[in-house]
Amino acid sequence: MTSTTPAPSLPADHPLVTGLTTEAPLLNQYRGGRDAAGNPAAPARQPVWFMRQAGRSLPEYRKLREGTTMLDSCLNPEMASEITLQPVRRHDVDAAIFFSDIVIPLRLAGVDVEIKPGVGPVLGSPVRTLEDVRALPELDEAAFAPIVEAVELTTSGLKDMAAEADRDWVTPLIGFAGAPFTLAAYMVEGKPSKEHLAVRTMMKANTETWNELAAWAARASGAFMRAQVMAGASAAQLFDSWAGSLSRADYLEYVAPFSQAALSHVADLGVPVIHFGTGTSQILDVMRAVVEFARIAPQEPVESGPSVLQAMGEALAAKEEGRTAHDPASLTTYPVLGVDYRMNLREAADQLGAGTNGRRTPLQGNIDPAMLFADAETLHQHVQAVLADGASAGGHVVNLGHGVPPETNPEVLTRVVEQIHSVETHPGQD
Ligand code: CP3
Repeated sequence: MTSTTPAPSLPADHPLVTGLTTEAPLLNQYRGGRDAAGNPAAPARQPVWFMRQAGRSLPEYRKLREGTTMLDSCLNPEMASEITLQPVRRHDVDAAIFFSDIVIPLRLAGVDVEIKPGVGPVLGSPVRTLEDVRALPELDEAAFAPIVEAVELTTSGLKDMAAEADRDWVTPLIGFAGAPFTLAAYMVEGKPSKEHLAVRTMMKANTETWNELAAWAARASGAFMRAQVMAGASAAQLFDSWAGSLSRADYLEYVAPFSQAALSHVADLGVPVIHFGTGTSQILDVMRAVVEFARIAPQEPVESGPSVLQAMGEALAAKEEGRTAHDPASLTTYPVLGVDYRMNLREAADQLGAGTNGRRTPLQGNIDPAMLFADAETLHQHVQAVLADGASAGGHVVNLGHGVPPETNPEVLTRVVEQIHSVETHPGQD
């Protein structure tokens, strides 16, 4: 059975409610090759977008950003919206990803944070002790005003672009946030790090401090994502870029409940949720469960309430006994996993098997960014291989295995989009 329940919590003028984005190729694949009514349908073309598609690889971006810091440009609605639209205009990609950053909720809460060019997020003072965590200001929803305005300008710009191109779907906007672990990794270290030692030490040595920090990050990221979706984004992506640095046991115990709590903020909205990390082959199934079970999570992952671990256990036991553990209406309808270039999509799809909805999970990925610098033929063959492997998933949205490197030639990206759009598409399997 396919759920066609409209999302009751979205505003009446939301593009998923008015239907402007519902039949876009991106959403068709996030639904596993289905139309909005749940019937198998081929997308108008094979969808593709790139993480960090907006940014330094584009001359028009570098020009617009001149003299404005990264975070200031994110909080200027006209600028953020124009930067979001630039790659859609240039490459004809199938999604706009909101131009912002995972640390924007910190800045909006009043935390002293900056993005140093070529370095990444740097905090005025790292968050190390329980006192530091308890001193973190709570985010006021009103602080999201510039985000809401930027999203509204963007969705309106995307609508105009569809009209100009005379297309019968509007390119969806994807909203996003950092997962609590990845966000906390920057907060505890105070700057980018390779091994994420301080945050991993805190988790086990000062678990109470970790629990309070991760809960704070889950609230901040959850509210940030919800603000974007309510203002007009048609999907949400949770970036847990560094989750791959954790063992399966540590991910399950210290991280999954908080990612689940972050996602519980959007789980009632009926939007596809993409969960992305790098080097995550040891935890892919748990990352999917985090999305599937987000709806039954309490927003505060304290001792009580069903955690991913508990829900997964119940679901497995129920499967063995041939019954359904959870009311399907209580599960997030469209879980999608983002896979980096270290894992073949066919292997990822086979490893995951069917989800709690009984279907193979849609995957997003995973062109190796290094191939963008290869000769045209090598890149062409690599993209064909990604497409062939992606066909074994229950839906495939092509992306890079991680972000666009700043030194990428944008014309190469446009050619990749053309190649992907030229392949034949098929309806999803029942
Ligand atoms: O096109 C897009 O994907 C748009 C928006 C976007 C940005 N950051 C803009 C950005 C998104 C989705 C992010 C997410 C983000 N930010 C993540 C998760 C994804 C990932 O890359 O793993 C992380 C870890 C961050 C934190 C962050 N912000 C880092 C590590 C950096 C890189 C520092 C650098 O300069 O190389 C940033 C800066 C940043 N965020 C840039 C952009 C376009 C570059 C800033 C610039 O153009 O000067």
